[in-house]
Amino acid sequence: QKLDIELAAIEKGGYDHFMLKEIFEQPQTIFDSLRGRLDAEQQHITLSGVDKIKDKLMEANRIIIVACGTSWHAGLLAEYVIEELCRINVEVEYASEFRYRNPIITDKDVIIAISQSGETADTLVALENAKKQGATIFGLVNVVGSSIARLSDAGAYTHAGPEIGVASTKAFTAQLAVLYLIALKVARDKQTIDQTLFNKLLADLAKVPQFVHDILEEQDAAIKAVALKYADARDFLYLGRGFNFPIALEGALKLKEISYIHAEGYPAAEMKHGPIALVDENLPVVFVATKDSYHEKIVSNIQEIKARKGKVIAVISQGDNIVAGLADDVMVVPQVHEVIAPLLSVVPLQLLSYYIGVHRGLDVDKPRNLAKSVTVE
Ligand code: AGP
Repeated sequence: QKLDIELAAIEKGGYDHFMLKEIFEQPQTIFDSLRGRLDAEQQHITLSGVDKIKDKLMEANRIIIVACGTSWHAGLLAEYVIEELCRINVEVEYASEFRYRNPIITDKDVIIAISQSGETADTLVALENAKKQGATIFGLVNVVGSSIARLSDAGAYTHAGPEIGVASTKAFTAQLAVLYLIALKVARDKQTIDQTLFNKLLADLAKVPQFVHDILEEQDAAIKAVALKYADARDFLYLGRGFNFPIALEGALKLKEISYIHAEGYPAAEMKHGPIALVDENLPVVFVATKDSYHEKIVSNIQEIKARKGKVIAVISQGDNIVAGLADDVMVVPQVHEVIAPLLSVVPLQLLSYYIGVHRGLDVDKPRNLAKSVTVE
């Protein structure tokens, strides 16, 4: 018994939970997922899996992304990034819906399957069906040799290492890192991106491991304080726009899974179409509000919430005094290009849900009702 406890402590690397350890591993796991693939100096990306299906990608009139849960959130962000950089139409599908609704699939379709475990039943069966209809499958998987990896025509592994915490954290940011590389490589191959933007995005991507390290070092205490301040709330809203909208969804899922508090992610501008009726002084609203081309609009969304006495917690870029002056609480991340910002803005939201879950005395590594890999339908 004592040995088991000691062994578990060693496995947790001195952290109280696997989830916290995995959040703090992200500088390394993002670096590992970029290593050997991103060469910012030479301005070059190496992804043999993408090369293997290059013709299919060049001819594709659409890319379908199939995933579940957090991996689906990575897919939604990939839609925004691939459409922005590669000008290819992207559809993101919940695997469980995609497999049952008899979708129209041709041999022109490229499907990107995103799965940490590589064993999620709905994703696996959706891919088997699509493969039968001639689609080309690209697997983005964390577990080497898993079923989805083996079924794929080509792919890339996220190098996040074993993820023990049921709530996905380091696997998610590793998925994003590789998805950015895929989008940048395809955009370069299709010549839909200019050299200046390509170089800027590569340079910012190369800085992400250090920036995530800085967030974890410098913001950890502030994020914990925010968590304790709002840990007793019964509902949360998470709002974002553009590239940060998928991060709002992911932040809400993390909170639900870890703290059992109801939370909903929403496009910030959608509030006025109904959900703003929810807002009162008991409702914390988390804005993912890093400096980007939507910033002016999200400032007015924040003012709309403040005018209705909602409490505003904002993830902001370093130096953003406008939102800092409006929000009740802020969590700060370094400034990077808006396309890359989601890789940073998700980190405070992971920590926020972790500290709220721990404060509520819950088993954050193994939340009730959840399995690490949903291998049943
Ligand atoms: C995320 O925190 C959850 N554990 C869950 O939504 C998970 O992302 C989903 O079940 C998909 O799992 P996969 O990536 O292994 O396919």
